Amino acid sequence: MSISILGIFVADLAFFGEKIPSTGETIIGKNYIIGPGGKGSNQAVAAAKAGAKTYFISKIGDDQFGSMAKKIYDESGVDYTNVIISKDHATGAAGILIDEKSGANSINVVPGAAGALTIHDIDKASECIKNSSIFLTQLEAPKEVVFHSIKKANQHSVKTILNPAPAASIYKEIFSMIDYFTPNETEANFYVNHPIETLDDAKQAAKKILELGVKNVIITLGEKGAYFENKEENYTAPIANLNNSIVDTTGAGDAFNAGLAVALAEGKNIKESLNFASATAGISTTKLGTANSMPLRDEIDKIL
Ligand code: RIB
Repeated sequence: MSISILGIFVADLAFFGEKIPSTGETIIGKNYIIGPGGKGSNQAVAAAKAGAKTYFISKIGDDQFGSMAKKIYDESGVDYTNVIISKDHATGAAGILIDEKSGANSINVVPGAAGALTIHDIDKASECIKNSSIFLTQLEAPKEVVFHSIKKANQHSVKTILNPAPAASIYKEIFSMIDYFTPNETEANFYVNHPIETLDDAKQAAKKILELGVKNVIITLGEKGAYFENKEENYTAPIANLNNSIVDTTGAGDAFNAGLAVALAEGKNIKESLNFASATAGISTTKLGTANSMPLRDEIDKIL
C-alpha cells in the first residue's frame, strides 16, 4: 500500500502582517519564516507523516533550497529516489503573504527546477506510479507532464486524485481518468464559472463538475468543511474539532489531499476518508508553515 505524488518543491518565503497588502501598498510586517513548500512536496510530507509509504516525483536544483527539500524528506520519511537533482536548474521559491488575524494567504509561486520536469522524467518513474494504490498530483508542474502522469496511472488502474491547484484548463479526455477531483471554492469557480459562497453553490458546482466526467468530486470549503458528491451519494464533511487556534491556513489544502490519499489507500470508506482529511488539514492550520505544519499520525488519530 503506497502513494505516489507528482508535484513541485519550492522554498516558501512567508510574511505575516496585520493584513495582506493591496496593489501598490506597502505594510510593515510582523514576522517572516522560510521553509519547505510546493503543493506536491507538502502533500508528500503530509502523507508520509500520516503513515503511508510515500514516493515523491519531482525535480530540484543542486542548491541550498534543494538541500532544504532533502532534509524534510529525510526527516519525514518521504522516498525521493524519483526526485531528480538538476545541475542546470535552480530550485524555485514562493512568496506568501499571510494575514496574521485570520491566517488567510495570497501566493506567487515560481516552480524553478520542477518547471523543467518532462514526460521522459515521468516515464522513468513509471514503476513507482504503477505499484502505488493511489496517485496524487496538482497543477503546479507543467500541465503536459501532469496529464501524462494521470494517463500512466490510469493505464495501470491506479486510483487518481487531481487537486486542481492552481486552477487551469484541463483536456476533456483527462477528466474521465480522474477518480477524485478536489478543488477549493476558488478553483471550483474556475471550472463551473459561478462563485462558490454557500453550501448550495458547492452542490450546484459539484453536479456540473461530475458532468465533466470525473468520478468523485470533493470541494473544500474552508471553515464550512468539504462537500463530496458522486453519481450515487453525497456528504458534507464538517471541519475537525481543533484543540488550538488557527494561525496559518497555508498548506491546509495540501494536508487535506494527503489525508484523503492516505485514508483511501488504507481502504477507509469515503466518509471516514473525508473526516481523516479534514482532521489532517485542521491540525496543519494550527501551526506555522506548510510542510513543517503537517501532523503526525498520532495527532490525527487523537482528534478523530
Ligand atoms: O499550498 C501551499 C503551497 O502553495 C505553498 O507551500 C507554496 O509553495 C505554493 O506552492
